[in-house]
Amino acid sequence: MQVTINKIAQGGEGIATLESGRTVFVDGALVNEVVEIEIYRETKSYAKAKITNILKASQDRVEPFCPHYFECGGCNLQHLKYEKQVKLKEDLVFDHLKRIAKLDLSKIDILPTETDSDTSYRNRVRFHVSMADKKIGFLKKQSDELCEIDSCPLLVDSINEAIGNGDIFKAARLNMFNNNSRGNYIQVPVFAGDDKLSFSNDRVKITVNEHPFSVSANVFFQSNPKLLSKLVDYVVSKIDCDSVMDLYSGVGTFSAFLPKNTIAVEKQKDCLTLSKINAPNAISYTGEVEKWGKKNKESVDIVVVDPPRTGLYESVPKLINKFGAKKIIYVSCNPVTLARDIKEFVKIGYEVKEVKVFDFYPHTHHVECVVLMSNVQK
Ligand SMILES: C[S@@+](CC[C@H](N)C(=O)[O-])C[C@H]1O[C@@H](n2cnc3c(N)ncnc32)[C@H](O)[C@@H]1O
Repeated sequence: MQVTINKIAQGGEGIATLESGRTVFVDGALVNEVVEIEIYRETKSYAKAKITNILKASQDRVEPFCPHYFECGGCNLQHLKYEKQVKLKEDLVFDHLKRIAKLDLSKIDILPTETDSDTSYRNRVRFHVSMADKKIGFLKKQSDELCEIDSCPLLVDSINEAIGNGDIFKAARLNMFNNNSRGNYIQVPVFAGDDKLSFSNDRVKITVNEHPFSVSANVFFQSNPKLLSKLVDYVVSKIDCDSVMDLYSGVGTFSAFLPKNTIAVEKQKDCLTLSKINAPNAISYTGEVEKWGKKNKESVDIVVVDPPRTGLYESVPKLINKFGAKKIIYVSCNPVTLARDIKEFVKIGYEVKEVKVFDFYPHTHHVECVVLMSNVQK
């Protein structure tokens, strides 16, 4: 079956329309390409397909630099020139802000996108390990099978070295007893600190903008340290008073740089334990933001909010408004939920002032972005 790709989806697949009128998402296809496809999944409203032959290739197509690329499920945009990946992600973010949040982008400051090295950037990863076959890797695309690797060009050198020197197997043996398995594989989380790796709850030091953080492989921490430094600089540059709240605060990544007595709220106890070390000047609470916010009558001028991919629980925009926030700095790793949440903030009186994209995850469709909002009524 032959199709022409007319758009790229949020997940990085090419989108085309089948003769039946149904939408098909084609893995690894680029805009304007004419491809032959094989459908591997169908629902009533859409189909998913893989390319069997490229009849007309895009000028933006490049040969992937990783030998495992077409098999491994780890990344999905290596076939697109890097500068075009950045443009694609910007377009996707802006498209969601227009379509879902109904924003008029001509009235918003769109700041230049931040990028850094597109290889050897990632210092956090989760390997799958087969003890029976003595293999380390990632799951294959659309599969529960292991794609064995001996290195990954997106990972920092210290993690690649641990594949070769047996440290990942050692960690897998320890993790065997921690319920950390998926199917036949043991999952091994790895976090690279300044000079040591963490494979579980063991703490390592990582320095961001000269501030030492204590982090383990089992908690959330941004996986691109060079861009994290720029993200922190940007967020801090928007803080112009002492009355600040840091919601979804993790191990204190932002709180550490925010004014004394910043109120930090995070649901994971392990994160909060580390946050108390990393950001001792913050006032830290364990709890789900939506429940904590209902019980507490705080008053603040600025709220930094950095939720997981699912975005904000539906009551949270109103809670933030109730806290009196004049300014919101919304850090997001999912432009779809970001746009959905902004729509709610706009309904209750906030205006979007600035948007800045950070390409934290080169060669994948994932993107980080920050939206600055202020309350026009406060
Ligand atoms: C994207 S991370 C951001 C963490 C931190 N701001 C950072 O940059 O390292 C999201 C954090 O929200 C936490 N979280 C998820 N759901 C939550 C909720 N309902 N209430 C509070 N924290 C939550 C997760 O445990 C995670 O640490």
